[in-house]
Amino acid sequence: MKAIVAVLPGDGIGPEVTTEAVQVLEAVGQRFGHEFQFSYGLLGGCAIDAAGNPLPAETVMLCQASDAVLLGAVGGPKWDDPTASMRPEQGLLGIRRVLGLYANLRPVKLVPALLHASTLKPEVLAGVDLLVVRELTGGVYFGPRKEATPDDQVAYDTMLYSRPEIERVTRLAAQAARERRGRLASVDKANVLASSRLWRRVVTELMRAEFPDVALEHVLVDAMAMHLIRRPAAYDVVLAENLFGDILTDEASMLAGSMGLLPSASLGEELNPHGQPRGLYEPIHGSAPDIAGRGVANPLATILSAAMLLRHSLGLEAEAQAVEAAVDAVLAAGLRTPDIADGAVEVVGTAAMGAAVVERL
Ligand code: NAD
Ligand code: IPM
Ligand code: MN
Repeated sequence: MKAIVAVLPGDGIGPEVTTEAVQVLEAVGQRFGHEFQFSYGLLGGCAIDAAGNPLPAETVMLCQASDAVLLGAVGGPKWDDPTASMRPEQGLLGIRRVLGLYANLRPVKLVPALLHASTLKPEVLAGVDLLVVRELTGGVYFGPRKEATPDDQVAYDTMLYSRPEIERVTRLAAQAARERRGRLASVDKANVLASSRLWRRVVTELMRAEFPDVALEHVLVDAMAMHLIRRPAAYDVVLAENLFGDILTDEASMLAGSMGLLPSASLGEELNPHGQPRGLYEPIHGSAPDIAGRGVANPLATILSAAMLLRHSLGLEAEAQAVEAAVDAVLAAGLRTPDIADGAVEVVGTAAMGAAVVERL
């Protein structure tokens, strides 16, 4: 197969981790006889610096002309001035919105070799295998807002959802649940928020009408934050609106052991020429300014995101599994980046970890 992958390395550790993921994709191409072409674009802080815009028009065109997008991370202290007119994060939200990527899949799976990398007890973690489906183009991230002015010192953001927005992401999550263990936990704050009451009603009605075979439960978000570290193995698919899903998945990353381990896939309705969704693939972590430029970031979240890219946007399931197996093998052999170094046989940097995955492939 021939495929075009847009690569948006972004800021901080973004370029470090995407370099490794691209090398892994190149190795997959060699081993399985595919031709992947990579086209690079600017997004985030680097785009503000170079083009005066966190999401330049060329970057949008580059993504639209590709089969899938691989993204590192954006943001950093350089662009953090709260009074700045442009923020790197606007670029990220913009590209998700422009590409119509309404569902963000964040799988959280315990790698047995990393049982001791987590801060939680092994007996709590045994059997953890969940998929968080985060709504990605609605809610408080995109609702009407007002910034404070020096005069009024009043600001607001609005959590806004419509029935079709809730229906489409619920359908995707329920379909995933049907292909997994048949259980869906929908997260909301229906005891307080009007948008959550609509969320709960729409989810209930859609599940009853279209997915009577999938077991549905509703969980309040505050309780879910607790359940996730009390009995994480009890969950299969977890469905959440944008902000709740963002927060819960950083928490859930510690079930796997590190932010540096969790991949994600953002999908929408648009198909690429392969007849698959033109997705965007990125680690759930940020630009990690505290470790950027030192070559110690864990590239596995981005490498595993590349595996999701092979699976969801190119339909290459065997190739995706080969990457996942290579990651498992490297971890089983005892290689660790510093974030998961507890009990390591060998502590390595970003490039050596990437090279080890390539070598297994
Ligand atoms: P962060 O995810 O960048 O870092 C949180 C902590 O996790 C840090 O201690 C960091 O060192 C560690 N960490 C993250 N990724 C790691 C990796 N691959 N290997 C090892 N350790 C890793 O979150 P933050 O510090 O709150 O945010 C920093 C910047 O990143 C902010 O500007 C924020 O807006 C941005 N951000 C971007 C994205 C994205 O581009 N998708 C996501 C989250 C945050
Ligand atoms: C993420 C990030 C982003 C989000 C920020 C950087 C806009 O935290 O991808 O999880 O909140 O969606
Ligand atoms: Mn986040």
